[in-house]
Amino acid sequence: MKKVAFYGKAGIGKSTTSTNVSAAVSLLGEKVAQVGCDPKHDSVANLMGGKLVPTIMDQVNKHHNRVTEEVINEVIYQGYNGILCAEAGGPRPGNGCAGKGVLLALQYIHKFQVLEKRNITFVCNCSATLCQLEK
Ligand SMILES: Nc1ncnc2c1ncn2[C@@H]1O[C@H](COP(=O)(O)OP(=O)(O)OP(=O)(O)O)[C@@H](O)[C@H]1O
Ligand SMILES: [Mg+2]
Repeated sequence: MKKVAFYGKAGIGKSTTSTNVSAAVSLLGEKVAQVGCDPKHDSVANLMGGKLVPTIMDQVNKHHNRVTEEVINEVIYQGYNGILCAEAGGPRPGNGCAGKGVLLALQYIHKFQVLEKRNITFVCNCSATLCQLEK
């Protein structure tokens, strides 16, 4: 699995660039996933027909201590050309650290082998702070 991270300051074009890379690479035949890691959760919107999708942290907040594979699968979407789309999301505003929320969301992706089970070959990760898909 190849992994690419797009990171940098606000508004620099991370979401736009990663969306276009994901689309182009999927058209070359890779099985692509894009994981947005900004609390603003709009990174995959253009792969999802312009919609903001519910996030992994929304699910974690909703289901508290019972975060199962099924709960996480509810916020794993199929977007343009079959690209797997997910948004990490963030904590409720005023309640917790955005970076920690992103890390927690990525840990669930790893724990439930979300990417491996779907035979993903190429992952675009988009974040205002550099983070890794695996610790
Ligand atoms: N190469 C480009 N040329 C011109 N405009 C661009 C380019 N890339 C992105 N933009 C525009 O810049 C704005 C910000 O882009 P984008 O949302 O991709 O940035 P971002 O780094 O993801 O921002 P954020 O940190 O808020 O998530 C958008 O209006 C987008 O259309
Ligand atoms: Mg963005």
